[in-house]
Amino acid sequence: MGDWLKNAVFYEIYPQSFYDTNEDGIGDINGITAKLDYIKGLGCNAIWINPCYDSPMKDAGYDVRDYKKVASRYGTNEDLYRLFGEAHKRDMHILLDLVPGHTSEEHEWFLKSQKQDPNEFSGRYIWSTHAFWGSHDYPYIGGESERNGVYFLNFFKCQPALNYGWLNPKEDWQDGIDSPNAIATREAMKDVMRFWLDHGCDGFRVDMAASLVKNDDEEKTGTSKIWQDIRKMLDEDYPEARMVAEWSDPPRAIRAGYHMDFVLNHPGHGYSKLARDYYNHPEDNKDMDKFFTGQTGEDPCLTDHSYFRKDDGADITAFLKDYQEMYDKTKGKGYISLLTCNHDTTRPRFNMTPRELSLYYSFLFTMPGVPFMYYGDEIGMRYLNLPTKEGGYGRTGSRTPMQWKKGKNLGFSDASPSDIYLPVDWRDDAPTVEEEEKDPSSLLNTVRSVLKLRADNEDLQSDGSFESLYAKEGQRPFAYKRGGFIIVINPSGQEETVPVDASGRKVVWQIGNGQAEGSSVKAGPQSFIVFA
Ligand code: NOJ
Repeated sequence: MGDWLKNAVFYEIYPQSFYDTNEDGIGDINGITAKLDYIKGLGCNAIWINPCYDSPMKDAGYDVRDYKKVASRYGTNEDLYRLFGEAHKRDMHILLDLVPGHTSEEHEWFLKSQKQDPNEFSGRYIWSTHAFWGSHDYPYIGGESERNGVYFLNFFKCQPALNYGWLNPKEDWQDGIDSPNAIATREAMKDVMRFWLDHGCDGFRVDMAASLVKNDDEEKTGTSKIWQDIRKMLDEDYPEARMVAEWSDPPRAIRAGYHMDFVLNHPGHGYSKLARDYYNHPEDNKDMDKFFTGQTGEDPCLTDHSYFRKDDGADITAFLKDYQEMYDKTKGKGYISLLTCNHDTTRPRFNMTPRELSLYYSFLFTMPGVPFMYYGDEIGMRYLNLPTKEGGYGRTGSRTPMQWKKGKNLGFSDASPSDIYLPVDWRDDAPTVEEEEKDPSSLLNTVRSVLKLRADNEDLQSDGSFESLYAKEGQRPFAYKRGGFIIVINPSGQEETVPVDASGRKVVWQIGNGQAEGSSVKAGPQSFIVFA
């Protein structure tokens, strides 16, 4: 695949919390533009911005009221166009967040759809034909609309589901996926995509990508058809545009037309059928929970034994089994996206030390595929225990303002501290960019250094080959080969002898101590060693 994803490393920005340039206490688009050089300097050459559109913000912007308008609190469309231009000047790319499965209940389409008189938007959402008839499969709301029927939800109550049809319609009010209503919805979403692509955006992160067609089968046959059709539009008219799915099933997402898909580790416990549909039956992913942190802080069900924890971490084998299967199925067709965490999960600092994090990130950034880093993870920002804000609930603590430097609002905003979007980390030792820049061994500088290693060596980038060399049940070390490189990780607190032959090779990058000894590698406590 000859494209810009070959060496892409993404930075995810939650716009309300990144950098405030107009002193209103909330981050803005111009704040992202102002920090482009910082992001590029980290080694990230691409950005995913969470929804920045006009919205009542009942789900922090995932409840879109106008797909084509930047929320005034973030600035104007012109600001965003300027950001695209400034990014391109620096050879960077920007993905917006596309929310195709639902809108806000305040979207003009929905306001018209709920009217009694038939109109262009009557079939844009999923409605039954009687105010007392719903379905056991999906949540719905009755008694709120002019028209006689209930409407179906895609997530929160404020997010009515757009109508892409049902795989096998059973009721007369259920449309098929090739029905005029379903096609009109799909075309409307394509129009939204075209609008932003025409203005210079480079593609989309797609929210709940697997959720479009209702009662879809396990293969997501119906939803896949829709994405394949959309991919055709991109290939024909926007061949440089790229899409990453929030699907968490790379083989299926890539078959459906995606260029890349996240491997998410949302907790499965207590999820409704609705949420399981969207997050690809997360109970199947429970092994992943052991290797990447990511459960929300309020979930008491999970005890973290992620691989990188020094004292109580598990071995890598269960992760590797899943990963290898996904990798083999997608190699050469699309990319797996591993991520430090995202705006829906607990920050990894919640249960990992900075040293553990440095091993974790070094692993993520030397794996194949296209990695993503959530803003602030590069300095080890904490998960803060906070009351819910804009539908965040347990996710709110991962959405706090970026910590740039000591002093007022940690450099995020010049507004009064009582006016900022969410409180900043109040502890004296809250990490900041400014301080970590001065410390050569800081997490920030480790991230920069490992990303430079990746940038300088094609073998370590998206397409470089991957082969596991050592992974054993009950053993903590893990060794793998990326093209001409051999990488050995020892997350434990003891020195380990790893039966991997690196004789005659040079150590070109490392955390902790390690060296080749005969046909083995001696890997010091909490070490990460790259041999060339
Ligand atoms: C997934 C998004 O990442 C999350 O933040 C949002 O609440 C839901 N989808 C609904 O759009």
